[in-house]
Amino acid sequence: MPAYIEIIDDYDHNGNVEYILENVLMPDDGSPEYRRLKDDYNSQLTLSCTCTDNCSNIVLCYHGDGIKYTRVKGELVLLSSADKQFPSIIECNDLCECRITLCTNRRVQYGPRKNLEVFESPLYKSKGLRTTADIPSGAFICEYAGELLTLPEARRRLEHIDKNCLVNYILCLNEHVAPQSPYLVQKKLLLTIVDPAQRGNIGRYLNHSCQPNCEILPVRTNCPIPKIGIFAKHDIYANEELCFHYAGEEHRDGMSNGKPCLCGAPHCIGFIPNSRI
Ligand SMILES: C[S@@+](CC[C@H](N)C(=O)[O-])C[C@H]1O[C@@H](n2cnc3c(N)ncnc32)[C@H](O)[C@@H]1O
Ligand SMILES: [Zn+2]
Ligand SMILES: [Zn+2]
Ligand SMILES: [Zn+2]
Repeated sequence: MPAYIEIIDDYDHNGNVEYILENVLMPDDGSPEYRRLKDDYNSQLTLSCTCTDNCSNIVLCYHGDGIKYTRVKGELVLLSSADKQFPSIIECNDLCECRITLCTNRRVQYGPRKNLEVFESPLYKSKGLRTTADIPSGAFICEYAGELLTLPEARRRLEHIDKNCLVNYILCLNEHVAPQSPYLVQKKLLLTIVDPAQRGNIGRYLNHSCQPNCEILPVRTNCPIPKIGIFAKHDIYANEELCFHYAGEEHRDGMSNGKPCLCGAPHCIGFIPNSRI
């Protein structure tokens, strides 16, 4: 068995937001939805491998994923494979017997990349995240980590945000999951809701763009609840602001949250989209 991997994340917040390295549970509200969320949160994916090589063989190192990584100039970046319909990543986990020094199926579990910087974005007139070094296409940026919410709690918080004109950080990841997915019992649609408003990592500073340079993908490591992984969509140059499409570019019908979009893209949809919940 490999030694358990620790996330390396030296970033911090200025101010009163609690810095967390990965998703945490929302406070217990005693609801059945919370109990289900907690059960999932405390579960371990049992998919594991016994590879003695670098885990690049998709038959021997099968984790039921749609996408794997490949090493380019010393860095693991996304390598698309056939399953584009349900894109998701399942990394090797604590139960895998592979050697972590050789394994090429672990990236998000190591934590965010270096050279990220929170700055005052002139375009968005608020904080944003930029890179001080070039980033290759497919590279991992960071996780969008925060409190995991149940659907009723997310609806309650969104109403509170609307009523009090607060900044909305809630991100809803909708997964249309293949029926044979190894981490599913019966469900075909999975909803993961993350709120980094009070407790979050550096991912909370990425703004929305209708023509973004990053994309989000569900990434599972040990837990069946996916992490929201943010990856470079194409090569990104030093000093560029990093942004992604809040509703996923394929869901251009994303619901408006009523705020005008400042992204400035030629085909801007005019508002900040939210996925429907
Ligand atoms: C996840 S936070 C991003 C960081 C935020 N700019 C800050 O200062 O903390 C999301 C919020 O940023 C602002 N924002 C993000 N994308 C935007 C856009 N395209 N146009 C206008 N405001 C945006 C909105 O207030 C939105 O609710
Ligand atoms: Zn393996
Ligand atoms: Zn492995
Ligand atoms: Zn826009």
